[in-house]
Amino acid sequence: MVTLHSSRNSALSKHPAIGRLLGGKYELLALAGRGGMAEVFRATTHGVAGFRRPVAVKRIIDELSEDPKFVAMFVEEARVTAALQHPNIVQIHDFDRDEDGAYFLVMEWVDGLNLHEWRMAHRAVEEPAPWHLAAAIGIEILKALNSAHTHRNEDGKLSPVFHRDVTPQNILMGTNGVVRLADFGLARAMDRARTTQPEMVKGKLGYIAPEMTRGADPSVQTDIFGVGIVLWEALAGRKLFKGDTPLDVLQKVRDAQVPPLAESRPDLPQSLCDALHRALQKEPERRYSSARSMVRALANILRMTPESTSNDVIARSIAQARDRLRQAVIDDNAVTEHLDIERLRTVDAAPREAAGARR
Ligand SMILES: Nc1ncnc2c1ncn2[C@@H]1O[C@H](COP(=O)(O)OP(=O)(O)OP(=O)(O)O)[C@@H](O)[C@H]1O
Ligand SMILES: [Mg+2]
Repeated sequence: MVTLHSSRNSALSKHPAIGRLLGGKYELLALAGRGGMAEVFRATTHGVAGFRRPVAVKRIIDELSEDPKFVAMFVEEARVTAALQHPNIVQIHDFDRDEDGAYFLVMEWVDGLNLHEWRMAHRAVEEPAPWHLAAAIGIEILKALNSAHTHRNEDGKLSPVFHRDVTPQNILMGTNGVVRLADFGLARAMDRARTTQPEMVKGKLGYIAPEMTRGADPSVQTDIFGVGIVLWEALAGRKLFKGDTPLDVLQKVRDAQVPPLAESRPDLPQSLCDALHRALQKEPERRYSSARSMVRALANILRMTPESTSNDVIARSIAQARDRLRQAVIDDNAVTEHLDIERLRTVDAAPREAAGARR
């Protein structure tokens, strides 16, 4: 098997937290990525009788763990998220504070790639992403959103949860072909992080809905716009709202300047382009009225193709994408500039470690 190595990789030093046991239970194995407010580690549980299970530990950065307003929002939203149960939503297992006072969330470890990495794997070989797979991935994400949008609290009262941060990095695709949406409801805490740590929360401006630039509340339609963006990008093979400055990006989002997808992908069925452009309408009321109705639209389009979109097919696509990314790292392909190589190495090591543990 080819493993990841490159001059860039060898310069990486081990994260000082690796090997630590958080809360006496979760051993941090490798850094799996850094986001706006936290570091994510691949970790393993240490239970009775040697019980071990792979998990992801999201540890809030120290500066934010010391901010009581941020912590209050984070705790509240972690509580809401923990109540969401759906096969396409990354499950939260635990929430605690470590010996240094830093808060951390424990969730299921999704062994695979995120949607950004999947897009880059296609770019590395200059191949367009298969549209039927992008549509199938969209359906899984929309199912997760629909379940959250129709969430009921313990009293049975409708209590919708909006994601607000539908980004390619939050769409995790497992090597088993299961697609899951991560970081539900953490966006309000992110806003707080943005005010105190502006430089930490970069690159997310291109994933909000136009009405949010005018201070509108999140809604079913803001999440649908997010799905429109990530699918447009996966298919077009480039970012949708790009600019030299954050203000440039915001202006493009505000005006919903969406180039016709058919220009980049003349091979797509017109109905798919229409569906994505409907999700990307500037006026929320012109978008789909629910995540469920967009699922129906995409499912109808998929019926026109003989191509299978089963879990097995998605799983094969993830495995192929991983191989292509490994090769891209070895070749020092230009796409590696847009990738977190340390994360790829972590992800790459997971199956081998698991195999070793079984022996
Ligand atoms: N449960 C998980 N299993 C595997 N990888 C994960 C998991 N959760 C997050 N990751 C990966 O870890 C990386 C960092 O995630 P993190 O959520 O901290 O940042 P982000 O998604 O880039 O930004 P944001 O702060 O907006 O969520 C991402 O590349 C993500 O794909
Ligand atoms: Mg995330």
